[in-house]
Amino acid sequence: MAASAAAVATSFKCGVFCSNGFSGSTRDFHWHKNERRNIKRASRGVITAKVDHKPPPYSLDALEPHMTRETFDYHWGKHHRAYVDNLNKQIVGTELDTKSLEDIVLATYNKGDLLPPFNNAAQVWNHEFFWESMKPSGGGQPSGELLELLKRDFGSFEAFVNEFKAAAATQFGSGWAWLVYKANRLDVGNAVNPLPSEEDKKLVVVKSPNAINPLVWDYSPLLTIDVWEHAYYLDFQNRRPDYISTFMEKLVSWDAVSSRLEAAKARAAEREREEERERREYDGGNQTDPEAEELFLGSDTDDAEAD
Ligand SMILES: [Fe+2]
Repeated sequence: MAASAAAVATSFKCGVFCSNGFSGSTRDFHWHKNERRNIKRASRGVITAKVDHKPPPYSLDALEPHMTRETFDYHWGKHHRAYVDNLNKQIVGTELDTKSLEDIVLATYNKGDLLPPFNNAAQVWNHEFFWESMKPSGGGQPSGELLELLKRDFGSFEAFVNEFKAAAATQFGSGWAWLVYKANRLDVGNAVNPLPSEEDKKLVVVKSPNAINPLVWDYSPLLTIDVWEHAYYLDFQNRRPDYISTFMEKLVSWDAVSSRLEAAKARAAEREREEERERREYDGGNQTDPEAEELFLGSDTDDAEAD
């Protein structure tokens, strides 16, 4: 069968998600299975691709004894690497090869009807974000605006911790728990919003199965914990609650969470300004000039009189 005949194309329109990283207002993305264009090969015939196996922002033994070097050797060294390698094999030579990792995640989510690279792309994104959610001597409490918003939206810092722990502990099977800043307009072009009745501009806790990432719901992730078994089995065996408690008490980088909150709020504010600009342009384009209308009506009258 010819490659072109075997190609299966799926497309979607990028609406709201354009503001998450896509440029332009609306575009079509086409995934062509079995299609390989502009395949790049190094001089020795090795296929090259772009997504990196990004290391954590600390040495692999820096979180001991809470998260051991052995866990990093497997989790970062083998699991994370496998997602990167598999993703690069999937996207090389396709339109996705030139996109950012975030764009690939959003493009391949495809309203929940996942395109082939989604799981690997999202798992690469999720793991990078997870490593950067921790630091040596982390844990404790945040401060400043982050702490104030946690108190505002959960009642107290302790209530937030309990809700986050519960989400992580009750995610059945593999997945993730998240603290996110939710500032969308409920008009999510690429996904089903899981909390459509919630207020905007607030912090919420959500959990997600497998590789799903709240970016696809148009939320801004601030903190995550990996609750796939490979994340904790070497250090905690089947004691997922102990792993979650250790993460919250000893490992969370509240500095990273605060920086992400600042960026999320700035992004939401920029989106509001952009929407306001578009609204004004739309209104301006649909308004009738009262003076022109008067002239038009007067012209009708003249015609009638002439008859
Ligand atoms: Fe993982």
